[in-house]
Amino acid sequence: MRVELGYLHNPKAPAADAAVAAVLRAVERSRADGLPLAGLHIAFDWCQYRHTFREPVVDRRSVGPGEAPAVRELAVDLRQAEADRLEHLAERALRRLAALPAPAPDRLYLEEFVPLRRSVIWRFNALYWREIERWETTLNRPFEAALPGGKSDASNPAQVEEAVEQFFEGLRALDKRGALPPELFVLEIGAGTGERAGLWLDRFRDLADSQGKDYYGRVRFLLSDYSMPMLERAHGNVLRHADKVSFLGLNATDPLRSLGFLRYKILCVHISNVYDNLPTDEVAKRDGRLYLVEARAYVGREAAVEVGQRYGVEPEALLRQVDLLLRIGPEASPDPAQGVGFWRDLWQLVRLEERYVPTDVRDPALIPGLDPEVLAEVLEGWPGDLRCHLSNGAVQSFVRTLPLLHPKGTLQVQDLFVTDLTEYGRGFRGPGKLDGSIVNWVNGALLRTAADRLGYRLHWAPFLYRPGSAIRIL
Ligand SMILES: C[S@@+](CC[C@H](N)C(=O)[O-])C[C@H]1O[C@@H](n2cnc3c(N)ncnc32)[C@H](O)[C@@H]1O
Repeated sequence: MRVELGYLHNPKAPAADAAVAAVLRAVERSRADGLPLAGLHIAFDWCQYRHTFREPVVDRRSVGPGEAPAVRELAVDLRQAEADRLEHLAERALRRLAALPAPAPDRLYLEEFVPLRRSVIWRFNALYWREIERWETTLNRPFEAALPGGKSDASNPAQVEEAVEQFFEGLRALDKRGALPPELFVLEIGAGTGERAGLWLDRFRDLADSQGKDYYGRVRFLLSDYSMPMLERAHGNVLRHADKVSFLGLNATDPLRSLGFLRYKILCVHISNVYDNLPTDEVAKRDGRLYLVEARAYVGREAAVEVGQRYGVEPEALLRQVDLLLRIGPEASPDPAQGVGFWRDLWQLVRLEERYVPTDVRDPALIPGLDPEVLAEVLEGWPGDLRCHLSNGAVQSFVRTLPLLHPKGTLQVQDLFVTDLTEYGRGFRGPGKLDGSIVNWVNGALLRTAADRLGYRLHWAPFLYRPGSAIRIL
């Protein structure tokens, strides 16, 4: 049996010896009852996100040939777990692991098991950005209110100023060699409110003016997002630079598809707080074998029925209403404000069951578009057990952005990165819920190896502009 005390590394996590002991008592009782415990792995986390897809105690098992699963696992979120209930919850989970896998009658399933990146939770995430106006106006708070400090770090003035100065330096160097292109293309992906773009352009214009350069006149700022309401909002925030900005509906996972005509031409690409919001899978390495995490989203049946009652949805119509919500949006309800209420309350209930499916590290389907040797290089040398993100969406975005860069161009990514795989053992890295969206830390070790293989240089810098920030700049 293996016990992982990931919470110890989180300074915010209180002492949890009593909770850990309660789970171990449940293990002892299960042993006395003759339950199979071979291969048991217990992970204690302290999930820093107020809302996650986890129950206080989760059981996971591997699937595959043979009757007994090779992996049995309990994951405990010490933040949610009340010590006096924990023993009972752990015992129940251990009994479930000893029995044949079966759907739980007290859960209403929203899907069948699928790799995490294909889970229905991502449709909720996309709905959030598509319907952000209605969500915010109905609930009367901006999406930024859910961020640490209530504000996006992307528009930190000191950081924007430094980024502009670095970009300017690069332009001057090209200019001196007579190699500055006539048009200076700049791209922001997932630009959100456009506040950063506005600040960036202000600063760029002022710097160009003060240095007597005509760079501002030559700049072509491509402001992109896949959310039409966000683009609309951004439009309002950069009106003062209207003749410099073009607005693009662009999917961050494939910038090259929309912008192929600018291959090798873009001098600066910026993307912040988007990679952590792109669909991702997770893999687990247990006793030298690699497993893909499959998930099945569900809501507690009783609580979901209560939500339905609150918004006039009959119990037998719940799944149909969720489907309508995801396809059409809150207008699928006779009163769209009620539709938002149904959506928010149901979203809070969504949890994930998980199972481990054996996989091959060189399976090209794991991260489509990436040389499978990259994943092999990152994971094969890893000595022990590990669970980490594949960051499929982020990797795809990265690989499909690089060819747009001018030979002297830069891609700057500001996000929650795990730069070293050991960090996965030192804290919870998602998925968490941020308001109606999803957040997962990004596997930077994988990005670095991908960049190396493609011949790009990649650097990390801490985000020093807000004390205590976990953000890093790539
Ligand atoms: C957390 S907000 C960040 C906004 C801004 N970059 C910032 O840091 O303040 C995420 C933004 O990414 C956009 N987004 C999420 N997934 C996307 C995708 N696949 N393609 C393009 N934009 C996406 C959302 O619409 C939203 O505007």
